[in-house]
Amino acid sequence: MSGLKTHYAAFDIEARILAGIRAAGLNPEQRLSAEELGALDHFHTGGLRASHELLAITPIEAGDRVIDVGAGLAGSARMLASQIGCRVECIEMSADYCTGARLLNRLTGLEDRIKVHEGSALDLPFIESSFDVAWMQNVGMNIADKQTLYAEIARVLKPGGLFAFQEMAAGTAATSYFPLPWATEPTDSFLISAEEMRSLLGTCGFSTELFEDTSNTHLSRTSAHANPAAPGQLGLAVFVNNLAEKAANARRSLEEGQVRLVRGVCRLN
Ligand SMILES: C[S@@+](CC[C@H](N)C(=O)[O-])C[C@H]1O[C@@H](n2cnc3c(N)ncnc32)[C@H](O)[C@@H]1O
Repeated sequence: MSGLKTHYAAFDIEARILAGIRAAGLNPEQRLSAEELGALDHFHTGGLRASHELLAITPIEAGDRVIDVGAGLAGSARMLASQIGCRVECIEMSADYCTGARLLNRLTGLEDRIKVHEGSALDLPFIESSFDVAWMQNVGMNIADKQTLYAEIARVLKPGGLFAFQEMAAGTAATSYFPLPWATEPTDSFLISAEEMRSLLGTCGFSTELFEDTSNTHLSRTSAHANPAAPGQLGLAVFVNNLAEKAANARRSLEEGQVRLVRGVCRLN
């Protein structure tokens, strides 16, 4: 399965993660908490705070079986497993990120509740109606075929199951500042408008319980001058190259309305 094409790759990710953890003054020989790794492994706009906010609007219970689609390093899966106690199956197409996710699951003692599968969101390796909740943060921007993405999520959810997501949507003008955190070049970026997203979700059998544009809230809460790659601090720069440039381009794209940040909770009919 390691032949999947992805622009997300991080050479020697285990060594980079362990070095980053030590540089931040944490000891990987001792049990770490999901929360203290939160600056490292929530690879999406708004980071750990955005994950907490999505969780606050998504009713998940301890007995639920959750799928995290495009899980990255599985920071959100660890938040869900540790805070709610649910079981989480991660699907992630980058072999490197799967390796990093499994390492962090071990370091936090959560490997019995979280399984990491290398594979594609467009061909989920699960049977029909087998999950209570699907969770997805900042993944659809990399996927051109959103009809298949949403149809696959609908297929594996139980009727009445929830799909919680946050996503970048297309704004009023084409994206022009690259690299972005999700796309080195324009050919890696597949944005649709919020309206197209809602319509496609409806076509795939979802009813929208909540859908909101959080772009302005996000911009007002974050500083344009924050350095996302400060030395000695745990952060995405441990495994994302050129992070400062990518983060600045993402902010500028949001400020100029080229992209929008949206989130939603939908229920499968
Ligand atoms: C910006 S990262 C977000 C990671 C994670 N959801 C988070 O918020 O920390 C996007 C992730 O989606 C994954 N991805 C992109 N396309 C995918 C696909 N077709 N199937 C599975 N994973 C995919 C990438 O490899 C990457 O890990």
